[in-house]
Amino acid sequence: MKSVKVGICGLGTVGGGTFNVLQRNADEIFRRCGRRIEVVQIAARSINPKCDTGSIEIIDDALALARNPDIDLVVELIGGDGIAKEVVLTAIEHGKHVVTANKALIAVHGNEIFARASEKGVSVGYEAAVAGGIPVIKAIREGLAGNRINWLAGIINGTGNFILTEMREKGRAFDDVLKEAQALGYAEADPTFDVEGIDAAHKLTILASIAFGIPLQFDKAYTEGITQLTTEDVNYAEALGYRIKHLGVARRTAEGIELRVHPTLIPAARLIANVNGVMNAVMVNGDAVGSTLYYGAGAGMEPTASAVVADLVDIARTLETASNQRVAPLAFQTDALSDEPVLPIAQCETAYYLRIQAKDHPGVLAQVASILSERGINIESIMQKEAEGQDGLIPIILLTHRVQEARMLDAIAALEALESVITPVVRIRVEQLD
Ligand code: HSE
Repeated sequence: MKSVKVGICGLGTVGGGTFNVLQRNADEIFRRCGRRIEVVQIAARSINPKCDTGSIEIIDDALALARNPDIDLVVELIGGDGIAKEVVLTAIEHGKHVVTANKALIAVHGNEIFARASEKGVSVGYEAAVAGGIPVIKAIREGLAGNRINWLAGIINGTGNFILTEMREKGRAFDDVLKEAQALGYAEADPTFDVEGIDAAHKLTILASIAFGIPLQFDKAYTEGITQLTTEDVNYAEALGYRIKHLGVARRTAEGIELRVHPTLIPAARLIANVNGVMNAVMVNGDAVGSTLYYGAGAGMEPTASAVVADLVDIARTLETASNQRVAPLAFQTDALSDEPVLPIAQCETAYYLRIQAKDHPGVLAQVASILSERGINIESIMQKEAEGQDGLIPIILLTHRVQEARMLDAIAALEALESVITPVVRIRVEQLD
């Protein structure tokens, strides 16, 4: 059978890994898909010293590669949504299949890209865009196709998880760990995408679409990063039996879809609470299967390459299949996507961890309790610590039952208006994931 001729755009961490895995496992891949996958051209600004490209042609113009008539499939590993988008659309216009690891591109421009690909009858694979080497797109799109998905929750940014883990386990400083993540090739070109939750929101947007059959709506995702987290809250959470993780949560409710990324307390006993370092994990709850958990390396050269190559194999296997018989890009038939609304964060519902720094006066606790009870907010547990700092303020730590965010914000405003509360109330959302 004819080989599949591939062009790779970008030979950095993921591009280099993809090239090496394709070369090293060529025979194994051939045995799996019955065709050779042959890299015939690479577009890169520089040679990756980790790759032995031999006689393969290397050019610097990715658009020329996307137009190359000898190429069947373009692998876009440049990243970002600048030239990468042009490369992908050009390849599609020229009737080529595309594989990309570019979460920003898919989350922001995926609706347009899939529409163009459908017109041209070509496939767009993006397994590597979410959770690196974990085949979670395939699991949701195909393995869970019999389910109505209720919710999913994931640690989907390796850099952020690496930082939180090192801070908690070794007491290391935030900036120091971030530098190490950059050196290891985990962090985005702009690391604020990692620590402010933007990267995780890109991935969550994609997961929510394939789980619920809704168009990609990155602009509606609520995003909160990890830069404001303090060691005090990490320690209080531990004392209450919780871990703080940077979680992406997508939940189907009667009113619409919750789509949110934020630091979250989760019970320390949950498997996902023990996912550390650069590892990622995604829990998916379906009506038939119950809760499932997918775990693995969320970033890095070869783990991400593993997902890119899996897409190549998938496309190679279905080259002769009519495009309407292939798995739909967003898991559901394009004309069957739902217009369920994505809810603003004020309408989302979670439990909360609150830390109130208050003057040590009689009656403060009663005032706090009455503000919450007046708003129908049920306290699950409460812990008052001794004053620690010079300021003489006592930390009051509370866990509440689930409540709508708008109501909690109203309660926090009332707490902050108390004469004895002079610093902002810390609030972190809590998910039981049960
Ligand atoms: N910067 C991303 C992360 C890379 O740290 O998870 C993988 O998408």
